[in-house]
Formats: sequence, structure tokens, C-alpha cells
Amino acid sequence: MAVLVTGGAGYIGSHTVAELLAKGEEVVIVDNLQQGHREAVLGGKLYVGDIRDDAFMDTVFQENEIDAVIHFAANSLVGESMTNPGKYYDNNVYGTLRLLETMNRHGVKRIVFSSTAATYGEPESIPIVETDRTLPTNAYGETKLAMESMMKWFDRAYGMKYVSLRYFNAAGAHASGQIGEDHDPETHLIPIILQVALGKRPHISVFGDDYSTPDGTCIRDYIHVSDLADAHILAVEKLRSGSESGIYNLGNGQGFSVKEVIELARQVTGHSIPAVMEARRAGDPAILVASSERTKAELGWQPQRNSLKSIIASAWSWHQSRPNGYDE
Ligand code: UFG
Repeated sequence: MAVLVTGGAGYIGSHTVAELLAKGEEVVIVDNLQQGHREAVLGGKLYVGDIRDDAFMDTVFQENEIDAVIHFAANSLVGESMTNPGKYYDNNVYGTLRLLETMNRHGVKRIVFSSTAATYGEPESIPIVETDRTLPTNAYGETKLAMESMMKWFDRAYGMKYVSLRYFNAAGAHASGQIGEDHDPETHLIPIILQVALGKRPHISVFGDDYSTPDGTCIRDYIHVSDLADAHILAVEKLRSGSESGIYNLGNGQGFSVKEVIELARQVTGHSIPAVMEARRAGDPAILVASSERTKAELGWQPQRNSLKSIIASAWSWHQSRPNGYDE
């Protein structure tokens, strides 16, 4: 039996493929390589194509004995989703609709879904639990919530079971040094800070230091990408054991401010990393920290790499060895 990973050439997808291979799973990858990198796929069988292409996807399901899908293929830039929401509804919502219909045609009833803390919007209380209100403040989060709802109704109608994993801030790189984070454009805090350390940018812009947090900058919960990957494998195992559908947060439960992240990166890299205070970025909640208690209790998940300093150190090794990412 094979696991199909859509978006398996992307950042979190490629780390999940690596963990699946390490577990001895047969892995099939579908990626249109619009954001993914062929080189990030360390093994398995890669099909280059789009989840919205039914004929292409029928071939993938016909040629392989797929019993579970892990679905990453999506656009995920909050800012872009505000200026081009149609792109997000097309690739994320319509893409997921096509995928679920294809799975249903082929009798595949298990899906693990890449969701996000952005489904919650501005939190009512910290830490965030899965039963909290979901009121996204951006189109990206809204599309991910719509995808979750779609899976709920496919479960009701066809018994298609899903595990939706709501990630907080993914960071870090694989211990092998072979794969890591490489987005174009890069918008995430830790890779941008490390690009400053590499001398590729003059400074890090801090988006707002007037939030109601102890040092005025936003607080986030950073989680190692390989810990995220592990949770997907536990979720597949849970679905294979006949479990019901569920929604789970993935975070370390500890918040770090933007200033604290910069300071830790200075310690890790030994570079001064100049920081310039700038205006707030639209749509940024002040504090996002997860409670992952349900995930630990029900999936048996335990993050293994939860010191932020070591998460930054793993990202730093990757960025030092591949300063231009995969395109070197
Ligand atoms: N930040 C800066 N300067 C930068 C980049 C980011 O100050 O150059 C700040 C942001 O304002 C934010 C924090 O650093 O306060 C983290 O920003 P990221 O862009 O790294 O991550 P986000 O928290 O915005 O986004 C993450 C995921 C999204 C997801 C979101 C949920 O990457 O996919 O969490 O809110 F939608």
C-alpha cells in the first residue's frame, strides 16, 4: 500500500516524504513544481502534475495502490491571498474538491490535511485549543477552513475519514542537511533573519513593536518541520487503525517574540543581524500559541526538537550549505 503526498516537493511536504521513506512506507508524490523543488523529493515516485487535472490524477491512482493521502498541495502566502483571493479559492478549495472527488472515485477513504493556525484568526484566549472560535482574518485561512469543512461533509456522505493538522509556525530543516526551507519569494521570519546573517539582506524589518506583548513585537509558536512531519505519519497510522476524523493543533506551546527570535539567531550565527523597526504588517495577530494537548493525547505525538535555539541552528546549517536554496 502506498501513501500519496500531494505537494510533496514543498517545504513541509518534502520533510514528510523523508520521514515516510525512513519508516519504510511506499510513497507516491504529486507536485506541479510551481513552488516545490524536484530536488527536495528524496525518494518515492514523483508525478509532476496538478491535483485539479482529473485525468492525470486518475492515472496516479490507477498506477499505484494508494490507501491514504497526505494533502499539502496549496498556496500559503497570507499577503498574496489578500490581493489575489481567486488564486487561493482555485488552487486550495477547488483543488481539494477535485482531489476528494478523485479519491472517492478510486475508493480511497483516508486523508491527512495540512491546515493552519490561520483558521482561528485573532485568538480569544491563549493557548489556542481546537474548539476555539474559527474566524479567519485572511483569505488563506478562510480557504483552509473551507477545505476542512469540505472534508467533514465528504466524511458524512462517503465515510471518508480525515485528520486535519493545524500548524503554527513551521521552521528548521532536516537533520541530514539534504532538505530545508526555500520559498520564492521568502516571507517567513527565520529564513529572512538567516539571509541577513548570510549577508544577502542588509537588515531584518521588524513588523511592529507596538503590540500589547512584553517587548511590543508579535509572539509566535515555532515548531520544527520534522516534528510536524512525524505528526502526519501518526495521523496516517491513526486513520489506518479505523479511527474517527479529527482536528489537531501542532505547536510547541511556547511563544517567542520577533525580538527574541532575532536575539537567538544572533547567538546561533555569531552575526550581529541589524534590525529595523517598521510598521505593522496587515493581518498579523499579536500572539499565536498552540495548546497541542489533544494531539499528544489522541495521536501520541510528542515534539522531539522543541528548543527554538536548536530549531534555528538546524535552519542555519541548511542556509549556510545552500545559500541560494535548491537553485544553486
Ligand atoms: N515578521 C517580521 N519581519 C519579517 C517577517 C516576519 O517582523 O520580515 C514577523 C511577522 O510580522 C510575524 C512573525 O514575524 O509577527 C512571524 O511571521 P511569519 O511570516 O514567519 O509567519 P506568520 O506567523 O505570519 O505565518 C505563519 C504561517 C502561515 C500561517 C500563519 C498563521 O507561515 O502560513 O502562521 O497565522 F497562515
